Amino acid sequence: MKKINKIAVMTSGGDAPGMNANIRAVVRTGIYNGLEVYGIENGFEGLIDNHIKLMDHSSVSNIIQRGGTILKTSRSKRFFEKSYRQQAFENLNRLGIEGLVVCGGNGSYTGAKILNEEFGIVVVGTPGTIDNDLYGTDFTIGYDTALNTVIEAVDKIRDTASSHNRMFFVEVMGRDAGFIALNSGIASGAEAIFIPEQTNDYESFVERFEKNQRDTKLFSIIIIAEGDESGGAFKVAEMFKEKYPDLETRVSILGHIQRGGNPSCRDRVLASKLGAGAIDALLQGKTNIAVGEINGQITYTPFEKAIKLQQNSISKEMLQLAKVLSL
Ligand code: F6P
Repeated sequence: MKKINKIAVMTSGGDAPGMNANIRAVVRTGIYNGLEVYGIENGFEGLIDNHIKLMDHSSVSNIIQRGGTILKTSRSKRFFEKSYRQQAFENLNRLGIEGLVVCGGNGSYTGAKILNEEFGIVVVGTPGTIDNDLYGTDFTIGYDTALNTVIEAVDKIRDTASSHNRMFFVEVMGRDAGFIALNSGIASGAEAIFIPEQTNDYESFVERFEKNQRDTKLFSIIIIAEGDESGGAFKVAEMFKEKYPDLETRVSILGHIQRGGNPSCRDRVLASKLGAGAIDALLQGKTNIAVGEINGQITYTPFEKAIKLQQNSISKEMLQLAKVLSL
């Protein structure tokens, strides 16, 4: 097994709280193990443009508590083109960088995998996205913080919803996945949750809603994942307004506030463990794998599998629980 001496770390795709803790863990565990560690700014875009700098212990001081990513991030269109990937490889090669840790989602794993296949760069991914939509880990970095942000917001919405007897449609992030919607919905006591993974059962909701109204439950919170088949919170609100014209409805799109803020304790610990796990993987000669945590244990899933399977499935029990508790 050829020993790696120089590695780089980057964040890619949508930022997520805890990415800084992950960068810190990669840099410090790497240095602890005698590696030279570089930071690539602005994801694959920065790799193409040669924004690569040497990191030391102090480059990652005072960042564990900060949201966002000190390395910045991007969704690179140029990286889809071979000529730019060649440029990216040459930038790494010039510095003698042989290994790369990429913190991001499925698209970022795909970019890293191509870099390995085309140029032999040793690549390891850590799961960084608020959506929790990655296979090979129970939780992604940033998901727990995002959930806490959502429930704090929904608790506030609940105050005003109950004061005015209004029906609130709250849209949360999750382009292809309903994890944020489902779990924040349970945690905030939502009356209904609409997610992309299941067909919306409006009839059953209407039935429960009408019964609730008779029982004098006069306000409701409905959580909708942005990627839901309905087309989002405004669309669902319109449907209900048509059916119940007298109903006072309001829509709240939580948007990018869900991606910001100081990472929760869970996210900081997870990001630290996975960062160290990425270095372990590189030292063991592993490549083309995503580091994850399953049942508290560090796991390595081949990129091919992680990318293909895309995400864990939504728990049917949790869906049922959400329904029962909203009665
Ligand atoms: O990072 C995941 C995510 O937050 C999705 O939930 C959302 O659909 C998307 O990113 C938004 O991306 P952007 O910040 O590019 O608008």
